[in-house]
Amino acid sequence: MAASLRAGSLLLNNGTMSGSTTAVRCSSTEAPSIVRVAAIAGSLRKGSVHQGLIRAAIEVSKDIPGLEVEHVKIDKLPFLNTDLEVNGRFPDEVEEFRASIQKADSILFASPEYNYSMTAPLKNAIDWASRSPNCWADKPATIISAGGGFGGGRSQYHLRQVGVFVDLHFLNKPELFVKAFEPPAKFDAQGNVIHEETKQRIKSLLIALQNWTLRLNNDGSGKL
Ligand SMILES: Cc1cc2nc3c(=O)[nH]c(=O)nc-3n(C[C@H](O)[C@H](O)[C@H](O)COP(=O)(O)O)c2cc1C
Repeated sequence: MAASLRAGSLLLNNGTMSGSTTAVRCSSTEAPSIVRVAAIAGSLRKGSVHQGLIRAAIEVSKDIPGLEVEHVKIDKLPFLNTDLEVNGRFPDEVEEFRASIQKADSILFASPEYNYSMTAPLKNAIDWASRSPNCWADKPATIISAGGGFGGGRSQYHLRQVGVFVDLHFLNKPELFVKAFEPPAKFDAQGNVIHEETKQRIKSLLIALQNWTLRLNNDGSGKL
């Protein structure tokens, strides 16, 4: 990412900048600012609605200039066991996962609620990438979840707590909790999002994450 951003300015969805002082437009001679988002689903099952939420995020991101969402899979990661770290090297699947997190500008978690918390596969992935050097450090992040009455909200708040120690910077608002079991239907049998309003809310969340990422990286270096 190679755009120079003024302090307090935000990249809008139409490619313009707005800030607390004068609004400016990115010069056409500058390289486009691409925010690369690594999206992680905490459920491994085939018909997972959380994987469906990520597919929807990828779909709607195509209408957001300067944003790319990549689904980073966690199903091949072994259970964390520090005995698997040999001579400073992690198992190949872990190295690959860590590299995907390291190269991302920000993180989108699709975090199911299991017994009032996040899932074991998601916590396992977070723990692997937290091993030194911590791949999460200083990354902006946000969460989507779907579930019962609270739409998976309790998993989100546990995840935010873990984010304090691994040094993620979670977006405060908007929050997105999808009530998966209440009408109208939000998902089909394969876990695809079929509810237009949910797609629009995912889009708003991604735009807010994009702005948050640019704002946090606005250190004058011109780099993400
Ligand atoms: C072990 C287990 C515990 C669960 N606990 C909760 C819970 O505490 N709160 C909730 O809203 N849903 C709970 N659920 C339901 C899941 O959150 C729900 O089925 C969700 O759709 C799973 O995500 P997925 O479709 O991406 O796999 C639980 C499901 C399982 C398998």
